[in-house]
Amino acid sequence: MSQALSSAFSSPSNRHRVWFHDQLAEPMEEQSLLEALTLGLTDSPRWISPKHFYDHRGSELFDRICQQPEYYPTRTEEAILERSVAAIADCVGRDIDLIELGSGASHKIRLLLDALRPHHYVGVDISRDFLLESTQRLANDYPWLSVHALCADFTAPFSLPTLEGDAHPVVFFPGSSIGNFTPREAMELLVRVHDQLPPGGGLLIGVDRIKDRDRLEAAYNDAAGVTRAFNLNLIHRLRDELGAEVSPDDFEHLAFYNEAASRIEMHLVSQRDQTFSLDGQTIALTAGEHIHTENSWKYSREGFEKLAGHAGFQARAHWCDDEGLFDVHYFERPV
Ligand code: AVJ
Repeated sequence: MSQALSSAFSSPSNRHRVWFHDQLAEPMEEQSLLEALTLGLTDSPRWISPKHFYDHRGSELFDRICQQPEYYPTRTEEAILERSVAAIADCVGRDIDLIELGSGASHKIRLLLDALRPHHYVGVDISRDFLLESTQRLANDYPWLSVHALCADFTAPFSLPTLEGDAHPVVFFPGSSIGNFTPREAMELLVRVHDQLPPGGGLLIGVDRIKDRDRLEAAYNDAAGVTRAFNLNLIHRLRDELGAEVSPDDFEHLAFYNEAASRIEMHLVSQRDQTFSLDGQTIALTAGEHIHTENSWKYSREGFEKLAGHAGFQARAHWCDDEGLFDVHYFERPV
């Protein structure tokens, strides 16, 4: 295992400890933010990876997106998990460890813990402080559970921590976060997960479905403007963390469904000609120029099963809502 096991993080009562594993080195992190943003902003067309949305503020904004009436994925997935939890427990079996990728606020896992009764829970997230807060709350609320926080960027190769005992691992990847990867990258990520699982290991994954444009576009253009603020958070980061002379007022949020590619696209649109410097390079944006900040791929049920099949997984079960908005799949690495 490549991660260093650093100090355990204790609750005020000193009782329910969270084991913290770090795969992101702090100074590296800032360096790579500057380098990553400079790379994308000097490219043509310009882009920023959506993983940079999730600093502490961005993680909070994402949490608020999930509560917007137009943003159906979270509500729908939670309803599926709630109503299918007994069937899910039957399917994954007893004596499991749960590893959640992109655990964020760790809300959804709470719907499963009492029924699945895992030995260990590992939350994996790129946002360190947010991860520590949410896993600590989880440890306090579930004193019987062994809680681990793994700070890692799962868009890059990462390794799962070694866990005590011989429970079989089940990776939980909710929220259609897989949609942020290109289909090819999604396959590569599934291969990586597959290869780290023992035979019989599972993958419980939530995937947003292809559906009508209006429904999709409304979800990324909520009336309260939370998605807009989330997108503009990248400009805040550029200004506040990297010292770029930019203002959120000079950009507008754009989100639309690219039907040919089965994906939602988000962009930041420069509202005027503007120039700023970043890492010694001059970046000149013209009025109306786009910075592409996110793709969110949508899949049919069959399309996603095929993709996971190519990664070596076997489809075991599937649950969805009555409207067919969202899918929860259970795959296994064949024995
Ligand atoms: C976390 C990638 C699933 O694409 O729906 C929500 C991120 N971006 N609103 C999604 C997001 C804008 C979200 N995923």
